[in-house]
Amino acid sequence: MNNYILAPSLLSADFSDLKSAVKMIEAKNAQFIHIDVMDGSFVPEISYGQPVVRSLRPLTELIFDVHLMVDNPERQIESFAQAGADYITFHLESSSDCASVIDKIHALNKKAGISIKPKTSVDKIENYLSKVDLVLVMTVEPGYGGQKIIPECVEKVSELVELRRKHNLNFKISVDGGVNENTIQSVIDAGADVIVSGSAFFAGRLS
Ligand code: DX5
Ligand code: ZN
Repeated sequence: MNNYILAPSLLSADFSDLKSAVKMIEAKNAQFIHIDVMDGSFVPEISYGQPVVRSLRPLTELIFDVHLMVDNPERQIESFAQAGADYITFHLESSSDCASVIDKIHALNKKAGISIKPKTSVDKIENYLSKVDLVLVMTVEPGYGGQKIIPECVEKVSELVELRRKHNLNFKISVDGGVNENTIQSVIDAGADVIVSGSAFFAGRLS
């Protein structure tokens, strides 16, 4: 039994057979399914949205960990909550009013996450740490699976562990990007609670 939550990212699944991907994730005893939503604006490409989440929802009881890589996330919260999201994570860099986005997620009885890109430092989210259920540390530039981890970003995990201890908080720390069989240990050692993995998981190199 792992002492972290594995969150396979559907972005690396075969989109023509998402049902099998969900069944594979269940079979590997993951607890979360990480669902990367891209809008072609905050990041260059478009992935999938609420209709896909709605179609997947009846297939499994796994936790839907929705990662919004979109501008104006406040416009999408309610419909993702209705579609079946459990956690809704948005980017600090995508909103001018993060506190109200977090409140909106909580008002719908969903868990709220905040994410930071590699160039954003942890102090930028310090004010929100007492309000969120999860912090998603991006260890690659958001937008594509299969990139190499930026090792300096892993230090943010240790910083967050320390802030959580100091202020007696209990948000989860999730790490996203470039986690594979060679890099996972450094992320665990830093103190991550949730490990997102797309390409390595679907290549069968991580479980
Ligand atoms: C990238 C996404 C990731 C991606 C991770 O912008 O947020 O969740 O799927 O893929 P890997 O594990 O291949 O780096
Ligand atoms: Zn992601």
